[in-house]
Amino acid sequence: MIWQSVKNKDNSEIAMRRIGIFGGSFDPIHYGHLHLAEEARCTEKLDQVLFMPAWVSPFKQESLPADQEDRLHMVRMAVSANAAFSVSDMEIRQGVVSYTADTLRRCQEMMGEETRLYFITGTDAFLNIETWDRSEELLRNYSFIVGSRPGYRQDDLDQVIRRVREIYGTDVRKMEIPQLDISSSGIRQRIRDGKPVRYLLPDSLIDYIHKKGLYAQSAAEHVPEASEIPMRAIDKAIDEVIRGRLKPSRLAHTYGVADEAVKLALRFCGNACKARTCALFHDVFREVGNLTHGPAAAEYMKREFNIDDEDMLSAVRFHTTGRRGMSLLEKIIFLADAIEPNRSYPGVDGIRLAAKCDLDKACLLSLEHTMRYLAQGGQEIDPQTKEAAADLREKTGGEGRFDEGKESPWTTGK
Ligand SMILES: [Fe+2]
Ligand SMILES: [Fe+2]
Repeated sequence: MIWQSVKNKDNSEIAMRRIGIFGGSFDPIHYGHLHLAEEARCTEKLDQVLFMPAWVSPFKQESLPADQEDRLHMVRMAVSANAAFSVSDMEIRQGVVSYTADTLRRCQEMMGEETRLYFITGTDAFLNIETWDRSEELLRNYSFIVGSRPGYRQDDLDQVIRRVREIYGTDVRKMEIPQLDISSSGIRQRIRDGKPVRYLLPDSLIDYIHKKGLYAQSAAEHVPEASEIPMRAIDKAIDEVIRGRLKPSRLAHTYGVADEAVKLALRFCGNACKARTCALFHDVFREVGNLTHGPAAAEYMKREFNIDDEDMLSAVRFHTTGRRGMSLLEKIIFLADAIEPNRSYPGVDGIRLAAKCDLDKACLLSLEHTMRYLAQGGQEIDPQTKEAAADLREKTGGEGRFDEGKESPWTTGK
């Protein structure tokens, strides 16, 4: 911790620590927040910025908010790379909306008088500062760093700053940040719309959001039907091929996998178009063997259809065995194959239920189901399947559970 020397009122020197307190719902935290915090830290020479995620009512938003633990976890992940950033769970643990005056008072008590607190906020929030609970206490006792966009409500902001300086002697620092135009609500909307959010927030958070299925549903939930996702030219081409090659039950299975894959992609923010294409290809050579038809189909996609998207090729190549470190698309195809509506084996409903909210858990259930079936029949388990299960067990923090069943998804005549 860096301590800065400043003059006290009697002109004696004291060591004064400068701490930024950055409150917000952070639902989710994004690069706009992180940039504002870093700008504040550098410009105002803060020793630390303490992120303070607020408790958020689950009922007040247009979309289902991430739960409190998920938001806290995402903030922790986002700030972990910056030694000058830290996170407090003080507000989020309250279980009710906290008043900033209470939060800052508690922080001041904990950190001592030799700490100067700088409350970091945005223009919109600061414009209403005089209406906050115990605003006078806030404006007299703490410093404020207001992040603003150039030109955005500058006159209003300057007016409020002038007024609070005059009336309360408030220490306000205005910081113009052109890059602030990222919003959590915009990110949530993009996720619901299936649009990319990469470069708006850290990749690790995007993975986490996808894994947990956060923000995928709006309060007035609309999950598009598979039929709303446009067929691509390549889908029509492979459709011609499989119509000519596959027996009716296998064709029905393939279409079932395609519909299920699109639904899973929509649910878990994957690419629905790629998912459908992979599904249509996945069993094109089913007759060549249990473990060889996936690689054969991937090879065919590459050779005959010039598909060089490695993620798509892997999704088809490993759709039977799975493997360690499966991508989102790989999991979608693997799972869609196991739970499409034509599948009927003991335990499938449990896997379908898990697939409603947790892709990893559902894949793990399916893998364990297959491994148990093979073990019971004295058959060899592919090492990649074992690796895939071990990987997902680590990620989900436990074993999957399902009803015992004699049949495997792979042996139901599809
Ligand atoms: Fe297959
Ligand atoms: Fe299949």
